[in-house]
Parts: sequence; C-alpha cells; structure tokens
Amino acid sequence: MGIGIELADNQAVLKAHPHLSTESNGYKYDIQRKDGVSTYTVSDGARSLSLPIRYGFGISSQTFVFDYNGHFYESLVSYYPNAGGLAVTMGSERVRPRNLVEAMGRETSADEIVSCFGCHSSGGVSQGKLTLDSMQPGLTCEHCHAGAGAHQEALSQGKPGAAPKKLGELSAEDTSNFCGTCHRTWDAVVRMKTWGQLNVRFQPYRLANSKCFLGNDRRISCTACHNPHDTLVRDDAGYDHNCLACHGKASASGALMQKPCPVAKAKCVSCHMPKVELPGSHSLFTDHQIRIVHAGDPYPN
Ligand code: HEC
Ligand code: HEC
Ligand code: HEC
Ligand code: HEC
Ligand code: HEC
Ligand code: HEC
Repeated sequence: MGIGIELADNQAVLKAHPHLSTESNGYKYDIQRKDGVSTYTVSDGARSLSLPIRYGFGISSQTFVFDYNGHFYESLVSYYPNAGGLAVTMGSERVRPRNLVEAMGRETSADEIVSCFGCHSSGGVSQGKLTLDSMQPGLTCEHCHAGAGAHQEALSQGKPGAAPKKLGELSAEDTSNFCGTCHRTWDAVVRMKTWGQLNVRFQPYRLANSKCFLGNDRRISCTACHNPHDTLVRDDAGYDHNCLACHGKASASGALMQKPCPVAKAKCVSCHMPKVELPGSHSLFTDHQIRIVHAGDPYPN
C-alpha cells in the first residue's frame, strides 16, 4: 500500500518538482526546494509567510501539513499531478482568505489532525494524542497486525505469546470494515451523508451496494482483489480472475456460480467498474459499485 506521508528528506513529489507556483484569491504561492528542504511561501504582494514543509500527505496528490504557532494547518493549495501542479486543496474551494495565515492554510481542529496522522502514519498517534517524534510514515506491519510485534518478541525469547488475529480469516464484510477504519465503512459514509460522486472514494461503501457483495463470501473481499502488501494492480485484465471466480464456469468445489457476461470475456472492470472523477480532487477513482453501466446513467448513490 501507499506511503501515506512523505517526510522532508524523502519527498519524491517535491524532489521531482523543485519549483511549483500558482495564484489563488489574489495570493501567490511558491514551493522551492533548497538544501533538501522544500519551503512553502504565500504572499499578498506586500508581505509573505514562509514555512518549511515537514509533512507531505499522499503519494500521488499531495497536501502539506504545517505546525505553525502551536496549531496545525492543512495547506490551502496542494500538488495535483492531473492539474499539472498546484491547485486549491479539495474541500477548501470556497475559502476566501482574509489574511496571510488564512491564505497559508486551513486551521484543523485537534481531533481532525489526530485522525489525519492516525490514518496516514504509524506511531504518530498514541491514546488519542499526537506523538510525532515516534511517527513513521505509512503503515507498518504492526498497524494492521496489532500484536504481531509482541508475538515475535515472545517467540524469540522462547515464550508462547498470544498469536495476532489472522486477518486472512476475516469474512468479506469484516475485511471491508477493517479496511474501512481508514477507507471509511458503509456505516461511516451513511452517517457522514456523503452523497453523489463524493462517495466514490469510499470503496467499502460502494462495494457493499453492489449486487456482487455477499458479506460471507471471501471471493468479493477487498483482499481477494488487493494484496495489502503489494502495489495496486493497474491492469484491467489483472482482475478478470476475480470476477470469473463467481461469474465463470462452475468450479469443482461446488461454489455457487453466477451468470456469465453476454457481452465480453475479458477486462470486466473496464465496463463494470467505471472511473469517476472525485469532485475537487483532480483525480479519478474506481467505482466499486460493480454494475451494468449504460451511457448517460446517473451516478447511483
Ligand atoms: C491505517 C489506515 C489504513 C488501513 C487500515 C488501510 N488503508 Fe489502504 N490506504 C491508506 C492510505 C492513507 C492510503 C493512501 C496512500 C497515499 O496515497 O499516500 C491508502 C491507499 C490504498 C490503496 C491505493 C494504493 C495506490 O497505490 O494507489 C489501496 C488499493 C488500499 N489502500 C487498499 C487497502 C485495503 C485492501 C485495506 C484493508 C486490507 C486497506 N487499504 C487498509 C490507509 C489505510
Ligand atoms: C479516516 C482516515 C483518514 C483521515 C482522517 C485522513 N485521510 Fe487522507 N486518505 C485516507 C485514505 C484511505 C486515502 C486514500 C484513498 C483516497 O484518496 O480516498 C487518503 C488520501 C489522501 C490524499 C490523496 C493521496 C494521493 O496520493 O492522491 C491526501 C492528500 C490526503 N489523504 C491528505 C489528508 C489530510 C491532510 C488529512 C487531514 C486533514 C487526511 N488526509 C485525513 C485516509 C484518511
Ligand atoms: C494495510 C494493512 C496491512 C499492512 C500494513 C500489513 N498487512 Fe499483512 N495482512 C493484511 C491483511 C488484510 C491480511 C489478510 C490477507 C487475506 O485476506 O488473505 C494480511 C495477511 C498477512 C499474513 C498472513 C497471516 C494473516 O494474518 O492472515 C502475514 C504473515 C502478514 N500479513 C505479514 C505482514 C507483514 C510482515 C507486514 C509488514 C511488512 C504486513 N503484513 C503489513 C493487512 C496488512
Ligand atoms: C472485484 C475486485 C475488487 C474488489 C473486491 C475491491 N477492489 Fe479496490 N480496486 C479494484 C480495481 C479494478 C481498482 C482500479 C485499479 C486501477 O487503477 O487500474 C481498484 C482500486 C482501488 C483503490 C485505488 C483508488 C481507486 O478507487 O481507484 C483503492 C483505495 C481500493 N481499490 C480499495 C479497495 C477496498 C478498501 C476494497 C474493499 C472494500 C476493495 N478495493 C475491493 C478492484 C477491486
Ligand atoms: C462473490 C461472487 C461475486 C464476485 C467475485 C463478482 N460478482 Fe458480480 N454478481 C454476483 C452476484 C451474487 C450478483 C447478483 C446476481 C443476480 O442478481 O442474479 C452479481 C451481479 C453482477 C452484475 C449484474 C449487476 C446488475 O446490475 O444487474 C454484473 C454486471 C456483475 N456482477 C459483474 C461482476 C464483475 C465485473 C466482477 C469483477 C469485478 C464481479 N461481478 C465479481 C457475485 C459476484
Ligand atoms: C465492453 C464492455 C463489457 C465488458 C468488457 C464486460 N461486460 Fe459484462 N456486460 C456488459 C453490458 C453492456 C452488459 C448488459 C448486457 C445487457 O443488458 O444486454 C453486461 C452484463 C453483464 C452481466 C449481467 C448478466 C445477466 O444476465 O444479467 C454480468 C454478470 C457481467 N456482465 C459480467 C461480466 C464479467 C465477469 C466480465 C469479464 C469476464 C464482463 N462482464 C465484461 C458490458 C461488458
């Protein structure tokens, strides 16, 4: 899975783009890299504010998080590869900054910033508080396999340690809820009332709404299609075996089989899991609500 956060000395995105700039709401933004540090500068023509970028959230698109005067801010502009550079951060489109600090970024609440680091890092949060000194970017094994470290240590000392829960034994529904702690669960999306294309990024919700989703059938679990220990497969044909596990010829195991496709025999996801633009994100997401798509159909909630 992705890195989640890039720290100053390891910012691939900013290294590849040592100078970025844009203008928004009458403010000018510059990101310049010098001596291994990228600095974010916002100016109104007369005055300017410069901050070193310590935390770059994301691996492809990137939003910066600043610790300024004892508060945390989410940068008002972000790097979007599909926008060809900097653009207003998703969610801040309607912000009209009244001063340099507001133009620099959106102040986050304490709870919000804790959740940002909670989902994007390991060890960055402990007992509901930020512990950034011990933070590691991205997801360590322990983050998903709670107790695995202690188990290893016990074994190495010749003691029996409680074995961590075997994640490979979770049902499809439990796996969706497990991944959904960060990718958002079906329940969380309903509670947030995120309707329309804004919910396309919440795969556990979209998948649960498709007819293919049978909560007790592991052939449709997140991990049937995604290996959480490897990079995302970007080849449509690479998922055919997942669909055919249910929509193919009857298997010897006697597993319940579903109707085959009357139209095509390969690249199933190219027609049945369309790419949808997430408003404001300048990026496409894959609609996990597997279905028959006719041109011009409205987006199903
Ligand atoms: C602790 C939080 C967390 C959990 C749990 C989690 N993810 Fe993620 N996942 C993330 C974050 C954050 C990203 C975005 C990384 C980035 O773009 O920097 C991500 C990205 C991904 C991607 C896209 C990777 C890419 O290269 O674009 C896939 C696929 C994915 N996760 C699948 C899963 C699956 C499947 C599970 C459950 C087995 C899971 N995730 C559990 C936080 C999590
Ligand atoms: C509940 C968990 C969660 C929280 C809280 C969260 N994120 Fe994320 N974030 C994710 C996951 C999962 C992804 C990958 C899938 C997606 O883009 O929706 C992601 C994606 C991103 C991306 C796009 C990454 C890319 O490579 O395209 C950015 C940027 C980002 N998050 C920044 C933030 C910031 C900044 C905060 C806090 C203000 C935050 N996130 C809070 C889970 C979370
Ligand atoms: C994003 C969460 C995530 C991260 C990070 C992660 N794993 Fe896993 N791991 C899983 C899931 C989910 C499964 C079950 C896969 C399946 O359904 O077959 C699994 C399965 C395993 C298994 C098989 C036992 C079991 O629990 O089913 C081992 C061993 C394992 N992982 C080791 C590691 C190691 C070592 C690392 C760190 C390098 C790591 N994992 C990082 C989510 C994760
Ligand atoms: C039937 C197969 C299948 C299942 C099940 C599945 N995915 Fe995916 N997923 C895909 C495909 C196909 C893509 C697009 C890959 C590409 O970019 O070419 C994708 C992409 C993603 C991405 C990258 C962002 C995006 O939307 O394009 C994330 C994150 C992700 N899946 C998470 C999940 C989670 C979490 C689950 C479980 C709730 C899940 N997936 C279940 C097939 C599946
Ligand atoms: C766990 C088994 C399972 C898997 C895996 C699975 N499906 Fe399905 N699929 C079903 C079931 C069950 C139905 C509902 C059948 C019915 O209503 O007769 C269904 C229905 C469908 C439909 C018809 C939907 C509609 O709106 O009428 C399409 C299209 C479809 N699946 C495509 C796919 C594709 C493409 C994949 C792989 C990305 C896939 N399925 C993976 C079980 C599965
Ligand atoms: C070129 C686009 C395309 C591809 C590729 C494709 N399908 Fe379809 N599929 C369709 C269309 C369109 C329909 C609806 C046909 C109709 O209603 O007459 C359909 C219908 C279905 C149905 C519903 C069948 C029924 O009788 O209700 C299933 C299941 C299905 N596809 C699964 C798959 C699987 C599995 C694959 C990959 C092996 C796949 N599709 C590849 C376009 C495609």
